[in-house]
Amino acid sequence: MAAFDALKKTLTAEPKTWLVTGVAGFIGSNLVEALLQLDQHVVGLDNFATGHEKNLAQVEASVGAERWARFSFMRGDICDLATCHAACKGVEYVLHQAALGSVPRSLEDPLSTHAANSTGFLNMLIAARDAKVKRFVYAASSSTYGDHPSLPKVEEVIGKPLSPYAVTKLVNELYADVFGRCYGMESVGLRYFNIFGRRQDPDGAYAAVVPKWVASMIHNEPVHINGDGETSRDFCYIDNVIQANLLAATSQHVDAANQVYNVAVGDRTTLNQLFESIRALLAPRFPHLVDFKPHYQDFRAGDVRHSLADISKARTRLGYEPTHRIGEGMAEAMDWYVRDLS
Ligand SMILES: NC(=O)c1ccc[n+]([C@@H]2O[C@H](COP(=O)([O-])OP(=O)(O)OC[C@H]3O[C@@H](n4cnc5c(N)ncnc54)[C@H](O)[C@@H]3O)[C@@H](O)[C@H]2O)c1
Repeated sequence: MAAFDALKKTLTAEPKTWLVTGVAGFIGSNLVEALLQLDQHVVGLDNFATGHEKNLAQVEASVGAERWARFSFMRGDICDLATCHAACKGVEYVLHQAALGSVPRSLEDPLSTHAANSTGFLNMLIAARDAKVKRFVYAASSSTYGDHPSLPKVEEVIGKPLSPYAVTKLVNELYADVFGRCYGMESVGLRYFNIFGRRQDPDGAYAAVVPKWVASMIHNEPVHINGDGETSRDFCYIDNVIQANLLAATSQHVDAANQVYNVAVGDRTTLNQLFESIRALLAPRFPHLVDFKPHYQDFRAGDVRHSLADISKARTRLGYEPTHRIGEGMAEAMDWYVRDLS
């Protein structure tokens, strides 16, 4: 936390120019909001494949007109190299978030996932290299641990990917590493674990578990748990992710760049525990949830059974110190969802 507090002061005193791709999505819109709050200049790129204009409208309302004037938005697709070149022009740091998330989506439509996540990623790397950005930070994924059973997950020990999505995220790491070796480019991959928080989309077939369950519970619709509910994840609140991105972009630690880092909390929560914590937080406001029970269904293809991160590498080299464990993050996220979904 000390490192992040110091960084915020430095950035406010000397604003930089950032590019956030996937800026209309969950994580991207939170990154641009945090950067504008720190008086940074930000270019945002998105094609609205899964992002929403309302996310940007919420950021505008939250930061105010003066800071919003430091933001310029480009509607465009990272699958188009010229668009990536235009977006990177004059940029010092890239926070690359644009991708098609979701393991099930990639199983149903591997080509679209590959286009955005692999080809689009390579376009962004080329454009960032050509623009000579200082550092390229990108959203990697815990799915890269694949079938390796060891817990907690340490960055150097990975298994085989279990889905087309996981393949694309592994390919990102390989390309970023090679661009470091071949072109001297600085990059940092952030292997996000299960991220949750304000503006995460509750709708659609590929919605993430936390917003999907919250929306279902608020609207008194069934909640389905895949498997026996003892599947576990390291759920990580969005504020920790913002911190990790800003530190990753600017850390001067001699071994900070051309690395991948786990971004998580280091706590393991089962789906049954998650269900109960959401239910307990919402029940005082929604009395129908007092005796609400989940429905159990089959395990889902491509899912890993357990996930738990070792975050010591990010602690040591980036100064990353999560401010929110799952309970604190859940309480903040729930307030936001109740306002947004009720
Ligand atoms: N949310 C998580 O738990 C999680 C976990 C691991 C990794 N990630 C990664 O983090 C990143 C952000 O995820 P998110 O949860 O905010 O998802 P999101 O779907 O809310 O945001 C992704 C954004 O990228 C945009 N986008 C997609 N394809 C694009 C393209 N071809 N050109 C331009 N924009 C495009 C979408 O419109 C959307 O606004 C993704 O790379 C995702 O794979 C997320």
